[in-house]
Amino acid sequence: PRSVWLSRHGESMLNLEGRIGGDADLSYRGDEYARKLPQLVLDSVGSDRPLTVWTSTLKRTINTARHLPPHYNQLQWKALDELDAGVCDGMTYQEISDMYPEDFQARDEDKYNYRYRGGESYRDVVIRLEPIIMELERSEDILIISHQAVIRCIYAYFMQKTQEESPWVPVPLHTLMKLTPRAYGTEVQTYKANI
Ligand code: G3H
Repeated sequence: PRSVWLSRHGESMLNLEGRIGGDADLSYRGDEYARKLPQLVLDSVGSDRPLTVWTSTLKRTINTARHLPPHYNQLQWKALDELDAGVCDGMTYQEISDMYPEDFQARDEDKYNYRYRGGESYRDVVIRLEPIIMELERSEDILIISHQAVIRCIYAYFMQKTQEESPWVPVPLHTLMKLTPRAYGTEVQTYKANI
C-alpha cells in the first residue's frame, strides 16, 4: 500500500459504561467524531486521492464512516469485527475479575495467547486478519475503521511489534493514524480530532 489509515470507531454507548464488546450505537461524542472524520481524512489524504474505506460489520464502525464522501468505496469485513470476548461480552473489567478471577489474571500474564471462554485471543484475531493483510498489501490507499484489539494487531504488523507488546499498544479514541511503509520501516502520523 502507499498508506494505510487506521481509526477506532467513535466512542460507543458501551464504551461510556466501560463495557467491552457488544454492538452498541455511538455516543454523542462518538457521533461528533463521525462528523469530524471527513475533514480529518481530507487534511491527511488530500482531496485528489481516491480512498477505499473498510469497516467491520458492527454498527459503531459503520456509523463512524457514515459522513465520509459518497465517492469513497466502502466495504464491510466480518474479519474486522472486535475480538470476541465470549462469555465476557458486554461485561466491565471489574465484573470479569469478580466472576472469573483466574481468567482475569491469566489474561494479564499472557494477553496475546489468552482466549476468552467461548471467544478469541489476540492470536486468533491475527490469524483471521491474514486475508485483510494480504488484501492491504496489494491495495492502494485504504482507511480502516475498526476496533481497539483489531487495530492493535494491524498496527503491530506494520510496526513489527512483538507478540508480547502488541496487545498493549495504546490506541486512543477519536484519533486517525496514518501508516506509510518505507524501505527503512513504517512512518506514523497521528491526527487527533478536537472533541
Ligand atoms: O473491547 C475490547 C477492547 O477493545 C479490547 O481491549 O484487549 O485491552 O481488553 P483489551
